[in-house]
Amino acid sequence: MRYGHFDDKRREYVITRPDTPLPWINYLGSTAYFGLISNTAGGYPFYRDARLRRISRYRYNNVPLDTGGRYVYLRDDRSGAFWSPTWQPVRRDLDTYTCRHGLGYTIIESSCEGIEARLRYFVPLDDSLEIWQVTLTNRRAEPADLSLFPSIEFCLWDAYDDAANFQRNFSVGEVEIEDGVIYHKSEYRERRDHFAYFACSGAIAGYDTQRDAFLGPYRGWDNPAAVERGACSQSHAHGWAPVGVFQTRLSIAPGASESVIVLLGYHENPRDDKFDPPGSQTINKRTVRPIIERYLDPAAVEAAFDRLASTWDALVGRCQVATPDVHTNRMINIWNAYQNMVTFNLSRSASLFESGVGRGMGFRDSNQDLLGFVHMVPARARERLLDIAATQLESGGAHHQYQPLTKRGNAGAGSNFNDDPLWLVLAVAAYLKETGDWGILAEPVPYENQPGTEAPLWDHLERSIRYTLDRLGPHGLPLIGRADWNDCLNLNTFSDEPGESFQTTANRDGHVAESVFIGGLFVLAAQEMAAMACHRDGADAGRFLSAADRMTQTVRQHGWDGAWFLRAYDDFGDRVGSATCAEGQIYIEPQGICVMAGIGLDNGLARQALDSVRERLATPHGIMLHQPAYTQYYLHLGEISSYPPGYKENAGIFCHTNPWIMIAEAMAGNGDRAFDYYTRINPSAREDISEIHRCEPYVYAQMIAGRDAPTHGEAKNSWLTGTAAWNYVAITQWILGIRPDYDGLRIAPVLPGDWDGFTATRVCRGTTYQIAVRRAGPGNTVSLEVDGQPVEGDCVPWTNRESVSVVATVR
Ligand code: BGC
Ligand code: NOJ
Repeated sequence: MRYGHFDDKRREYVITRPDTPLPWINYLGSTAYFGLISNTAGGYPFYRDARLRRISRYRYNNVPLDTGGRYVYLRDDRSGAFWSPTWQPVRRDLDTYTCRHGLGYTIIESSCEGIEARLRYFVPLDDSLEIWQVTLTNRRAEPADLSLFPSIEFCLWDAYDDAANFQRNFSVGEVEIEDGVIYHKSEYRERRDHFAYFACSGAIAGYDTQRDAFLGPYRGWDNPAAVERGACSQSHAHGWAPVGVFQTRLSIAPGASESVIVLLGYHENPRDDKFDPPGSQTINKRTVRPIIERYLDPAAVEAAFDRLASTWDALVGRCQVATPDVHTNRMINIWNAYQNMVTFNLSRSASLFESGVGRGMGFRDSNQDLLGFVHMVPARARERLLDIAATQLESGGAHHQYQPLTKRGNAGAGSNFNDDPLWLVLAVAAYLKETGDWGILAEPVPYENQPGTEAPLWDHLERSIRYTLDRLGPHGLPLIGRADWNDCLNLNTFSDEPGESFQTTANRDGHVAESVFIGGLFVLAAQEMAAMACHRDGADAGRFLSAADRMTQTVRQHGWDGAWFLRAYDDFGDRVGSATCAEGQIYIEPQGICVMAGIGLDNGLARQALDSVRERLATPHGIMLHQPAYTQYYLHLGEISSYPPGYKENAGIFCHTNPWIMIAEAMAGNGDRAFDYYTRINPSAREDISEIHRCEPYVYAQMIAGRDAPTHGEAKNSWLTGTAAWNYVAITQWILGIRPDYDGLRIAPVLPGDWDGFTATRVCRGTTYQIAVRRAGPGNTVSLEVDGQPVEGDCVPWTNRESVSVVATVR
C-alpha cells in the first residue's frame, strides 16, 4: 500500500495522507542551523548541536506520536471552527492534504472549510533561522475572517536537562517581547550569549509566551484555549514553559490569497555586547534586527529559496544517471545523494530514532559516511578527514566518538574498537581518488588534539595499519578489542550486570578473541596504503603489500569455515560464525569484506562464500546479518544476543552490510545478483509495501526486521545510517562501475543481464564526463572510446579538459 508517490521532476516525495505508518520526515538546514520536520510539521530545530543548542521542544516517545512542531492554527472567526492545516496537532479531518518533502524544504498543502493553505518551510543557506511561508486562499463564495496562530514551544537549550531537571527548569524561563518579536532568553542573564526569536510578518492582534496561558490548564496542543476562544492573552513567561505564539487576523475576499511569513531563529551576540543599554538585562537586538527585517520581506525569502534550490541542483548534479530502472535513477539522482548529505551534516545525532542527546560523531561512521558525500563537497570532506584524524590516539587507536561542537574525542564512549583506525585509511583513499589532492597526506595533524604532537596525515595512516599489526591474536588474526564493525559482538565484555554498557565494559584482557572481519578490512586498507605509497615515492609499497598478503594467507588458513568465512574466535578460542556453532553459524560481514579485499576471488572461495550467503542469509527483504538468530543471551557474545531474534544485530537485515555483498558479487562478475540485492532493500522499490516497510520510502533505514521477527520486513532507524553511503558506492561505483581511481576514472560496469546500457553525467576533478554504456554481449569486458578515440583498459586517464565523452561497450 502507498501513502504517496515520487515526483522525480521536482525532486520531491509527495505524501498524500497525513497518517503515515510512522512520521515521515525531512531535514532542513545545511551548515549550522538544522531541523527535522515531519509530514505533519512535527520536529524541532537546533543550532549545530542537537543536545546543547536545542531551540524548540519535541517529545520523543510521546502519544500520539510526533508531538512538538512548527504548528500553525487556523480559526474561522465567524463560526469559531479551528483546525491545523498540517493536520497535527488538532488532527481535524482535512478535505485535501499533501506534503512535499524536497531537498532542504518541506511544503504542506491542505484545504478545509473552503480555505486552502500552503506552508513552505526551509532554512536559508547562510543564516541561522527557519522560514515558514504561509499562504491562504479563500475558495468560498463569501469573504473569510480568519485568525492565524503560528506557535512554537521553546526548549531550554540543553535538550537532556530540559527533559529531566524540572526543579530548575520551571524557574529559569524568560522572554522579551519587543516590536512584535518574541525573544526567548532563558539563561541569557548568565553564561549564554545566544537567544532564539520568533517573528511574524502579519499585523499582530495578540500573543502569548506562557504555555499554560495559551493552552489553558490541563489542555494540550490539540485544542488550545486561546485558539478556541479566538484571543491570546498577552502572557509574559516567567519560569514554567516559555512559548512563542502570535495571533494575526486576515480578512480574505473570495478567490483572494494572503501570505504571512513566520521566522524562528537563533542568534549569538558578542559576549561584551550582550545587553542594550549596557548594564541592563535587555538583549542587545541591534545585531539581529537587520536579519529579521530582511527575511520578513517576501522578495528576500524567494531569493533565499532560489539559492537553496540551485545549491542542491549543483550538489546532486555531480552524478546523474539514466538507467532502465526508475528506482535506481531516483535513488542515485535524488534521494540517496540527499541522504548522504544529511548523514554528513547530522552524523548519528538527531532523527526520530536518535534523540539528539546521545551520540557524538562516530570515528568509523564518519569515515564511512564520507564515501557517499566526498564527490559532492570535496573541500568539506577534506576538513572532516582532518578533524577525524586529529582525534586519533598516539597508539594509532581511536576514540570511538568525538563531539561535534568541540571536535574532541569523547572518552566516555570508549576506545579499542579495533576496526576503527582502518576506516580512516579507506576514507583518505576515497578522498584522494576523488580529488587527486595528494597534499593532504603531508598536512600536519595532531594526535588526540594535543598541540605539539602534529605529524603528517600519512603517519596517522601508517599508525592505523601498525595498530592492527601490533594486536594480532593466537591465530595471527587481528584481536577484536571491544568490538569491530559489529558494535554488538562483544567478545571481551562478559557483562551480567543489568543496564551495564556493552560498549564500555570489559571483563577480559582481550588477548584471545580475534576478528576475521578486521582481517579482511586490514587487507583492503593495506592494499590502499600500497597504492598510495606508489604514488608518493614508491617506498613502503612492498611492505604494505606483503602485510596484505600475509593477512590474506592467515584468513585463508584460519578464517575459512568450509563453505564461508568464519566471523571470529571468541575469548575461549572457539569459533563464532561457524557450522560448528549451535546458533550464529554464518555471518554476512566477513563474506562481504573478505571478498571485497580480493580474498578467495582466485580460488573459488569467494564464489562459495557468496553462494552460502544466498542460500542461508538472503530474504526477499534483504540479507540478514547472521543465521540462525541467537535465541538466548550468551555472556561471551554480548549485546548481539541481547536483542530478540530478527532485530538489529541479532539477525536483523542490517542494511549497511548488504552493499558489501553487492560489491562482492560485482567483483565476482555477477551483475544479476548484485542488482537483485540492491533492489531488495532499495526504499523506492519497496514503496508498494509501505504498510510493511513503514519507514520513509525515499531513504534507507539502518535495519529491516529479519526472518525471525514477527514483523519481518519492517524498517527501523531511518535516515542516519552508513547504509546510505555504502549503497551509493555499491550502485554507482560497482554495478554501474563509475569509479574514481588513483590514475583515472574507471568505467567498469557489472550490469544485470537484461539491461542494454545506461548513460551518466559525472563531475570529477573539474571535468564533466558524459558517459554512455552499451551492452554488446553477455559478459563484463569493457572497451572504451574517449572523445572518439579507443583507450586501452577500463580507465579514462585524468585530464584537465572541461568535458570528456566516454563510450563504453560491454561484451
Ligand atoms: C546498537 C548498535 C550501535 C551501538 C552504538 C547498540 O545498541 O545496537 O547498532 O552501533 O548501540 O553504541
Ligand atoms: C550502528 C553504528 O553507528 C555503527 O558504527 C555500527 O557499525 C553498526 N551499528 C553495527 O553495529
